Amino acid sequence: MLTKHTIVTMPGDGIGNQVLPEAIRVLDAVGFEANYVHADIGWECWKKDGTALPEHTVELLRKHKVGLFGAITSKPKKEAEAELSASLKGKGYQYFSPIVSMRQIFNLDVCMRPCLSFPGNPLNFIRKRPAGGFEEPKVDVVVFRQNTEGLYAGVEWTNPPQQIREALATHSKFKTFAGVSGADLAISVRIITRPAARRICEAAFRHARKFGYKSVTICEKPNVLRETSGMMEEVAKEVQKQYSEIALWSTNIDAQTMWLTKNPEDYGVIVASNLFGDVISDAFAGLVGGLGFAASGNIGEEVAVFEPTHGSAPKYAELDPPIVNPIAMILSAAMMLDHLGENEKATKIRAAIAAVVAEGKVRTYDMMRISGGSKSIAYGAASTTEMTEAILAKIEVGVEAAVTA
Ligand code: NAI
Ligand code: MG
Repeated sequence: MLTKHTIVTMPGDGIGNQVLPEAIRVLDAVGFEANYVHADIGWECWKKDGTALPEHTVELLRKHKVGLFGAITSKPKKEAEAELSASLKGKGYQYFSPIVSMRQIFNLDVCMRPCLSFPGNPLNFIRKRPAGGFEEPKVDVVVFRQNTEGLYAGVEWTNPPQQIREALATHSKFKTFAGVSGADLAISVRIITRPAARRICEAAFRHARKFGYKSVTICEKPNVLRETSGMMEEVAKEVQKQYSEIALWSTNIDAQTMWLTKNPEDYGVIVASNLFGDVISDAFAGLVGGLGFAASGNIGEEVAVFEPTHGSAPKYAELDPPIVNPIAMILSAAMMLDHLGENEKATKIRAAIAAVVAEGKVRTYDMMRISGGSKSIAYGAASTTEMTEAILAKIEVGVEAAVTA
């Protein structure tokens, strides 16, 4: 039998090992034909080899182009050093986040974060109706976050070198800070480049067209950050000219978070620079179920890596049976299918999840608003595996049947 795709699977640490295999069961169930190649990543690699992203894993991604990633654990500098294997200690090894490294190595500059409310999810945002009672607005927002530059470009100093201070002193606005001592002065540089701004804006509009969204909102702060946000907005306006059927709206990040709960149903695709995209995607994710439902894709021109937004949740990693919600990971796998052009299979997965959530019989602890732990299951929460099995059962009866079930 011919297999079409090879997927590099990187479960990583903690609950990454619990949720990633569940996503593969679901991919199998919708008939996705693939070879899965395991690759190591995360804390164990750091302890053993002094890097959380082994060269072998980078090579596999370079070769196969598509990765499915669980989560990693990272710890502060001192703990990281203390946990290095004896032979590596004191040799100058420095911990770097493997996700950030992957984004840099492969220029995964488009980060896509869908925030979709599934009716029946008790975690969905509701608001009061003026006439009394409550309503649950449908949220279907996809945030496109620039993933490699902006305030996260990493160009920063405490006590900046003299040449930097001198260069800054040529700017009239720096006068106020000229007398601050080096030790008291921290600077992070916000870098926006036109090609990267164009790529993220084009990705946002392409997605809006493909999936029928009526608007793209550029969410920045161009009235204050006139150069950087100004360039983002200018590029968005240019790109919009190729998409006359899609409206371009411009909001400020602060106002957008205020409007978040007022009219989230009005927004479709949102595009933003790195920090603002990080903020606004978490904010929207909070309206639709939070970490148990938040999926993401890191997409470059050649390589793409799909992952849930959540981390390794170490406090739940040892529980048997596992209790965490696999939906964020499974939705990430569905995004991977969309990326590979397997849209029908992705739709099947989302419909099955929608059906399970609508039915409300099987809920992991987070969906019940109870605290997680070994007792969650005794309180009626489904285990990770039970949630997957409920989704698999819906896939088995078929999409339409699942949606109307
Ligand atoms: P986290 O996302 O791992 O967990 C925070 C809390 O969210 C958990 O304690 C749990 O209550 C809940 N949660 C997370 N995933 C869930 C799921 N699938 N179902 C139900 N509940 C879920 O973030 P935290 O605790 O801040 O960090 C833990 C470790 O993960 C750290 O070492 C951190 O550096 C790392 N991390 C890794 C990320 C990644 O791999 N992309 C992202 C965020 C954190
Ligand atoms: Mg974040």
